[in-house]
Amino acid sequence: MKAVRIGLCGLGTVGGGTFRLLASNADLIAGRADTPIEVVRVGARRDNPDCPLGGVPVSRDIFEVARDPEVDILVELIGGTDTARELVEAAIDNGKHVVTANKALIAEHGNALFARAARRGVSLRFEAAVAGGIPIIKALREGLAGNRIEWLAGIINGTTNFILTEMRDKRRAFADVLAEAQALGYAEADPTFDVEGIDAAHKLAILAALAFGTPLNMNAVFAEGITGITPLDVDFVKELGYRIKHLGIARQSPAGVELRVHPTLIPKRRLLANVDGVKNAVLVEGDAVGPTLYYGAGAGAEPTASAVIADLVDIARDIAVGQSDRVPAGGFAGSAVRDLPVVPMADVQTPWYLRMEAEDRPGVMSAVTRIFSEQGISIEGLIQKAPSAGEARVPVVVLTNTAAQSQVDEAVLQIEALPTIYGSITRIRVETLDG
Ligand SMILES: NC(=O)c1ccc[n+]([C@@H]2O[C@H](COP(=O)([O-])OP(=O)(O)OC[C@H]3O[C@@H](n4cnc5c(N)ncnc54)[C@H](OP(=O)(O)O)[C@@H]3O)[C@@H](O)[C@H]2O)c1
Repeated sequence: MKAVRIGLCGLGTVGGGTFRLLASNADLIAGRADTPIEVVRVGARRDNPDCPLGGVPVSRDIFEVARDPEVDILVELIGGTDTARELVEAAIDNGKHVVTANKALIAEHGNALFARAARRGVSLRFEAAVAGGIPIIKALREGLAGNRIEWLAGIINGTTNFILTEMRDKRRAFADVLAEAQALGYAEADPTFDVEGIDAAHKLAILAALAFGTPLNMNAVFAEGITGITPLDVDFVKELGYRIKHLGIARQSPAGVELRVHPTLIPKRRLLANVDGVKNAVLVEGDAVGPTLYYGAGAGAEPTASAVIADLVDIARDIAVGQSDRVPAGGFAGSAVRDLPVVPMADVQTPWYLRMEAEDRPGVMSAVTRIFSEQGISIEGLIQKAPSAGEARVPVVVLTNTAAQSQVDEAVLQIEALPTIYGSITRIRVETLDG
């Protein structure tokens, strides 16, 4: 039986994990693909002591792998968007199928790369790019193909979920937990991509394109990180029966699609509220199936390798029947791809959690509630604590009913201008995640 030949570029965490898993489960994988899958060349700047190559030739110039006529599928695991893009383009132009785990590459350059792959008649697959080992791409492209996807909501960045879980369970401050996440190797050395929501925005852009059959539109994703969350918020939220999760949310409505990543209060009874630590989960609501939940490891060498190899097996099966990309890139065939309008954030409607610091004297709250009422926002709940000894200021938390961001913006502006309210108001959107 002719083996499918792999050129593996990048021998770091995921590259090393993929090489090892292909070796340790070789027979199983060959059985499922109905053909052996063999790494015939590696492209790596340096050796990985955790990944002995057992004689597989190594190119220090990864572009040699893209040109190697012995390679059927190039696996891009170098990360970044510049060289990675050139490498993937070179592989496609040389008639190779490509598998990547690179969400930034797919989110930012996917439209052009999929078109290029289609013209050349090769596959470009990316299961590992979203939620690591969870087969969410396959679920959206294939398992849910009979559904109109109404919305999806996901915990798709393990680092932020770890930080929020530690803040809640151990009452630790954000900066303190972030330092630990870096020490444990969860967060990047520059953790901005994680904590400012950029990594999650890349992943949400990909999920939304698959769910709704739209082109990738990374620039349309609203991204807000978790740096503004304080232990005080964590405590109040607990008291209200919610948990704070950093969610990526994509929703389809007659007005268009909402694409947003932000801290979110969700009722603590929801399954998603109980996804803790570095784990990921994506909740998808289909019109026929209802809610479905996908849970698992969102990162790490072996879980991510699991997703990379799933793509390799799929391509190997396609090669066996002389086909490429049996399932179109976005899950929609060319003419079915639709460019839906993006709903501006000002129009996005959710309930809100608002926390402010107020002077502790009569009349303060009536001024605040009057502003809400004038803006057409109704109040669902309010918590006002007694001041600590010697303190003249008290924290006040308001939970609103559903209101557009523009309404809340105006109310917040007016409340912050009151002489009895100090500093700026913390606001976090609320999602009930009902069907
Ligand atoms: N880690 C995860 O859990 C995870 C999960 C899902 C997706 N991903 C994605 O998987 C990809 C790889 O991530 P990773 O965590 O494995 O990163 P990593 O550990 O930093 O590995 C990347 C490897 O690629 C090498 N490399 C970079 N540019 C190169 C070049 N021009 N020529 C040759 N080698 C080059 C790096 O070499 P040097 O060390 O010499 O720079 C490094 O060994 C990224 O796109 C990431 O977003 C990762």
